[in-house]
This record gives sequence, structure tokens and C-alpha cells, in this order.
Amino acid sequence: MSGKPLLVTCGLPYTNGPCHIGHLRTYVPADCYVRYMRRTGEDVVFICGSDNHGTPIVISAEQEGASPRELSERYHRHFDSTFRRMLIWFDRFGMTDDPVNHETTRSIVQRLLDRGYIYARTIRQSYCPDCSRFLPDRYVEGVCPYCGAIARGDECDQGCGQHLEPGEIRDAVCKICGAKAELREQEHYFFRLSGFKEFLLKYVPELRGTANARNYALGWVKEALHDWCITRTLDWGVRFPGRDDLVVYVWVDAPIGYISFTKEWAETAGADWTEYWCGDETRVTHFIGGDIIYHHCIFWPALLAGAGYGLPYAVVASGMVTIEGKKFSKSRGYVVWTNDDYLDQGLPPDYLRYYLLSYTNHTKELDFSWKVFQERVNNELVGTLGNFIYRTMHFAQKEFGGVPGVPAEPAIVEEIERTLGAVDASMQNYEFKNAADTMMALASFGNSYIQNAAPWKLIKQDRGAAEQVIANCLQIVKALVLLFEPLMPETAQRAWRMLGYDDRVADHGVHEATTPLGARAIAKPAPLFAKMEDAKIRDLEAILAARVGETKRMRKQAKGTVSIDLFSQLDIKVGRIVAAEPIRGSKNLYRLMIDLGDGQRQIVSGIAQFYTPDELIGRDVAVIANLEPTTIFGVESQGMILAAGDEASLIVPLRPVKPGTAVR
Ligand code: MSP
Ligand code: ZN
Repeated sequence: MSGKPLLVTCGLPYTNGPCHIGHLRTYVPADCYVRYMRRTGEDVVFICGSDNHGTPIVISAEQEGASPRELSERYHRHFDSTFRRMLIWFDRFGMTDDPVNHETTRSIVQRLLDRGYIYARTIRQSYCPDCSRFLPDRYVEGVCPYCGAIARGDECDQGCGQHLEPGEIRDAVCKICGAKAELREQEHYFFRLSGFKEFLLKYVPELRGTANARNYALGWVKEALHDWCITRTLDWGVRFPGRDDLVVYVWVDAPIGYISFTKEWAETAGADWTEYWCGDETRVTHFIGGDIIYHHCIFWPALLAGAGYGLPYAVVASGMVTIEGKKFSKSRGYVVWTNDDYLDQGLPPDYLRYYLLSYTNHTKELDFSWKVFQERVNNELVGTLGNFIYRTMHFAQKEFGGVPGVPAEPAIVEEIERTLGAVDASMQNYEFKNAADTMMALASFGNSYIQNAAPWKLIKQDRGAAEQVIANCLQIVKALVLLFEPLMPETAQRAWRMLGYDDRVADHGVHEATTPLGARAIAKPAPLFAKMEDAKIRDLEAILAARVGETKRMRKQAKGTVSIDLFSQLDIKVGRIVAAEPIRGSKNLYRLMIDLGDGQRQIVSGIAQFYTPDELIGRDVAVIANLEPTTIFGVESQGMILAAGDEASLIVPLRPVKPGTAVR
């Protein structure tokens, strides 16, 4: 520990859509961590804001007939209020389009220019001759040069996940008008990321946070580092210094937002932002999802190092959230909206916070399903934690009118201390599931203890002994309330009141878990958690199922109908696979040789994860023979073989036919 104050940030949400529970896996654990650290006496600032720039936001705005600024303000307010409803409380929630961030970004870019870390280069970039404009990022769609999947201009989002530089995409088509894009020359600016290899090889292994962030980043640094084109031909964004026609790439001004929002916070709090961001040692801790590790562990530290700022202290990267076993997908309906599908259904923020924190280890994938949600609420929150607290307080209130003035016995205090130590170790290591499990284990301990000691029997023979038992249980209750506050702040506050305190539980240190409660009267307790009934769960499942069904129907409609004429233009034939070999540098691709009766064809196919060459050679498959040839990974592909589903089940003839037979 450097003695410096802690600064915690969260990945900034894009302002082109509402908050879903995938987002929350960045914000809830960060909020829990901040609350916990504050309760151990740390000085913590908690910073976030919305990410307003980039082409997706311009495109969404165009579709909605709003300006990008209007759209951004709308979703900015949405995220701000949703976070509050989820009890995620930032000290500052800024906007990357606000003036402070424009200024900060330009000054950092200028500094990088002055120091030679940014240089100009003329590149060929997608351009639409019909719209007379350059097509940055998502303004084009085409074929990924690495894996052959359909990709958007800046990223192979459906395939291998590669980041694509401007001009890299193959067979580009303009997203606005559908015309075939051409390549035109334009001068752009590049960040010399390749020059930071030595620096990163030293920096990344020492980065604190979760191991997944470190390990992925180190792997990438060892492979190769390419310079990044950091300008875009766009009106929306931070103007590149000295160029009226270019803005900086959104991934430059977005992380700089972390600094800008700290400045904005410091301004109102009378603090000094340089304490957080400058000097050899910082305690800047970034919470993000596993999808943006590259940006935070490689690009961002290099940018900061180049500009002479302090470097991030820790990166805490979560695994991704899936929905009922399916990858998150708005277009497929696999999404649970935080407001519409959860909070507005009357469900308490604390239940979802608990689920997100405790279901799987932070760096692992986390699947959300209403069934598991129900189980966890009913078994753990209601059955274990709620049950122990309620039966303790109910008995104490009924028999003693409140908390007796007897301190807990040493064995109980020791048990609590053990728990405190284990929770602290987990929290310091960003292991939120372990922390939650340890707390829940203390509640289970409490349940067994009260069950075995049976104070309701004891009281008939020995009132003093029963009083001691319940004093012990109340001490455990106090510890649980103090410990669970970072996870479930609203419930903890309610329980704190029920224990007879009239202040905020969040103002008390975790170490108070072992200090005696002191005699006090308490009111009749109420249960802290409510069971999730089957009928309610069925309703919630129905909402999700309806959305998935709806998008399926819409996608079918979107495909529309095709004339027989158009269909007959497709030359579909049965072909025999005569050779299959992996393509060097690609995990998914095979170079197939296909016998089509009249000769052999070379086809590149992304099925290498699903079949060995031996499983393929000799098989007859359906082939589209007259597809325009394209080059994938440097290999020309002269057609396409047909396959179904996520695991590429090949379409094969049921009865033997000769190679070259037409499919009709
Ligand atoms: N704007 C960028 C981050 C810029 S940070 C300088 C971005 N925005 S986002 O809206 O797509 O995501 C916001 C946060 O939510 C990120 O931390 C991201 O990793 C996280 N997640 C978004 N969808 C997620 C899942 N399905 N699962 C887990 N985390 C996810 O990325
Ligand atoms: Zn790809």
C-alpha cells in the first residue's frame, strides 16, 4: 500500500441503449468493493461516467432521428438513475462529451504528438462513392480477414473477436446505403503502441487486480503489438488537434474520461486530482468486464506512460454474463433489462446484487436464469440468512424485550473474528464470491448454534443460560449486518434499525462486528427477505421467452421472400471433400478441396473447431458453387459449404449421389 487514496472506476457505459444486467457485473462488484474499503477506514473516491462518442452512437442517433448529444443525454440520465436505484453510488458520474474531457483529451493527445508517440500516415480506408464519405468503424460491414466471419468495420464481433484497423476488412459494404465500399487514401494518425513492448512486458506482470486481466494482457503483449489508428473521419467526438476533419478514436477519449471525471469531482470536493493520477505510484483501480481487458491493460497504460501520467494500480476484470446459458444478445432477445425486467417488476436491488456477487467467482462467466435466482433467494437469503436473523430477533424481542446487556462468549467472538479475517482476505483479492460464501457460512453457523442450544427449551429451566445464548446470537446478527452491508445495503440498513440503532450502518466500521451491542429495547422484527414464489418466476421467465420469440419472428420477417428466379441463380451442388488442412495462424479455418464432379475447388471453411480432417475427408456435403470468390487469411475461397447451427452440423445427402449432383 502506498498510502495514497484509492480511486475506483468502472467501465463507462455507452449511451446508445439501456442498462442490462450484463453491465451490472462491472458496477455492482465495484460498488461492493468501494463500500467495503470505506468501512475498513480507507479513503476512496468512486468515479464513473457515460461514454458518448463512437460510431454506434451516431448510427443509433440517426435511426432515432435525434442528435448524438440528445441521445447521449437521454441515456446518460437513464444510467445515472438506474445506478442509483441499484444502490450503486458514484461520487461523480460524468459525460465524455463534456468540456473538461474535450480539453483533457486534446492536451494529452498534443503531448503524445510532441513526444513523438503519435505520428501521421496515409492509409487506405473504406469510402462510399454513393454517400461521398469515408466509412469509419461500424459504417462498414464485410468479411473478417482473420477468420472469414461477417464482421463490422472495427471488430470481428461474430467471429474471432479480432480488433480490425481501418481498411483491413474485406468485401466492405456501406451500412448507410448498401453500396460496395472502395478504398481511398487519407492521412490519419497512429499511436505508436509497438514502441511500448518493453514497457508493457515489465508493467503487466506487476499489475494488481485479477489474474485473468494480467494473463490475457501478457499473452497479447508477447504475441505482437500493432500501432493503433487513433483518428476517425467523423463529426461527433473530440477534434484532433490541428485537424478539422478528424476526431480522435473513442477508445482514446473514453478512458481519459476517468481522469476528467476525477477533475470534475475534485473541483466540487476541494480535492487535488493530481494526487490520484500523477506520480510513480497510484492506486487507480479499474473495474471492467473481460471484453475490454486489451484496452485497459495494454492500450491505456501505454497512453498514460507516453503522456507522463501515473499508471493504473489494478485492473479487476469480471467474466461475462450469459442469459439462460446463451451469450448476451440484444438482437436475439437474450437480455434482461435492469429497469423493465427487474426493478420495475418490484424486485429488490439487493437480491440481484447478491446473485451477481455470489453465484460464480468474479473472473468466471456468470449465467443468469430466473430458476437459479429463485433458488438462491429462497435457500440462502430467506432460508439461511433471513431465517437466522429473524428467529434470533423474534426470540430476543419476545422473551427479553430486546437486546440483553450480556456480552457474547469468547468462542462466539472468535468465530466472528475468523469470519472477519477471511472476508477481508477475499475482499482485498477481489474475490467477492468467497467473501459472500464466508458470510453465509457464519449465518449457517448461527443457525446450527441456535438450533442445538435451543434457547426456547432452555429458558424453561435456566433463564440466564437462555439469555446468554440469545446474546451470542445477537452478536452474530450484528456481525452479519455489518458484513453484508456492501453486498446488500438496503437490507442491511433495515436490519440495523431492527437491532435498535438509529444511525446509518454504513457509518460503522466492519471491526465493530465484535463490539458488544449494549442493552436496548427492540421493536417486533419483520422478515428481511421474501420468498420468490413459483408463479412470479413463471411470469418473469415468460417475459424473457416472449422477447426471444419476438426477435425470432422479426428476424424471419426481415429475411422476406425470394423469387424462384432468384433462388435458381444459386448453384448448389453436392461435393465430396477430398482434402482438409488447417490454415496457419487461424484456429477455426480449414482449406478444403472439394470434388464437384467437373474438377476440384478450394474452399475456406470455419469448421476446424468441430471436425478433425479425418472426419471430413470422403464426406459428401452441400456446396454453393457460384459464390463470388474471396480471400480469407491469404487463401482464396471459391464457394461455401453449408452447415447448420452453432456447431456447424454439415448438411449431407441422405442417399448416396454423385459429386456434382445439383441440389434443388
Ligand atoms: N464504453 C465501453 C467502455 C469504455 S471504458 C473507458 C464499453 N461500454 S459498454 O456499455 O459496452 O459496457 C460497459 C461495462 O459493462 C463494461 O465494463 C463492460 O465490460 C461491461 N459489460 C457489458 N456487457 C457485459 C456482459 N454481458 N457481461 C459482463 N460485462 C459486460 O464497453
Ligand atoms: Zn474474425
